[in-house]
Amino acid sequence: MATIIGGLGTSHVPAIANAISKRLYDDPYWERFFAGYPPVHDWLHPLEADVAVVFYNDHGLNFFLDAMPTFAVGAALEYPSADEGWGIGQVTPFAGNPELSWHIIEGAMAAGFDLTTCQEMRVDHGFWIPMELFYPVRPAKLQVVPIHINTVQHPLPTAGRCEAFGAAVGDAIRSFSEDLRVVVIGSGGLSHQLEGERAGFINREFDELCFDALASSDRSAITKHSIRDLIELAGSQGVEVINWLAMRGALGGEVTEVHRNYHIPISNTAAGLLALEPVGVRQPA
Ligand code: DHB
Ligand code: FE
Repeated sequence: MATIIGGLGTSHVPAIANAISKRLYDDPYWERFFAGYPPVHDWLHPLEADVAVVFYNDHGLNFFLDAMPTFAVGAALEYPSADEGWGIGQVTPFAGNPELSWHIIEGAMAAGFDLTTCQEMRVDHGFWIPMELFYPVRPAKLQVVPIHINTVQHPLPTAGRCEAFGAAVGDAIRSFSEDLRVVVIGSGGLSHQLEGERAGFINREFDELCFDALASSDRSAITKHSIRDLIELAGSQGVEVINWLAMRGALGGEVTEVHRNYHIPISNTAAGLLALEPVGVRQPA
């Protein structure tokens, strides 16, 4: 059976792509941000994941405001990246695992989540910046399942609904017959707002509460809030934390915190990084 070996959350600011391509790892603006990742690599890479299931929000590349699914699961053999308007460089296409995708779709649908299924899907910075950060050299065998959650076109799914969706995806992964080692990733956040009077808004106190809740077995400190309240607390794009809740839902049960990093600001964003290991599944490859 497939095993979920770890859970990761990271911000996905487009400027990170430029910093990576220019190798600005020791630049004074970037060094405290990039310093968070090597300890995660040291833990993650020996685990030799076969598949990364990534909860992220498309920002207008594969979906746009004319038709925005709430939950959409990729079921393609390959996922190309493309520029959705930031002018950032692109990365080589990601290999899919359609069998696992369809198993996740069947499982989550049976659990009551009516999904959009995508046999073709282009992935934007919300998907591939986390992948580049966690796997600076992509392992040849690594496959992906991209799962989009709408954080853009209101009404959005509630935080509790996203956590429950993640749990359904996690149950489906664990019931997959192949012995795959799966890492689940939540992309986006933490607090940030890009537009309007509150552009540049950051809420360190709420971000720290989110870290603590995500690393615990009780996320009600986040899920008790409506989307409107979350936007007030975390900013209009800080609501992307619902992707992290789906990741945490997929992990289920108890987790051990492996590492966290928090750096204010990267662009307009409170950049967060969290690595979690489910209790009782550690079995290095
Ligand atoms: C920024 C943050 C985001 O989450 C995003 O999708 C685009 C830009 C930023 O802070 O610049
Ligand atoms: Fe974003």
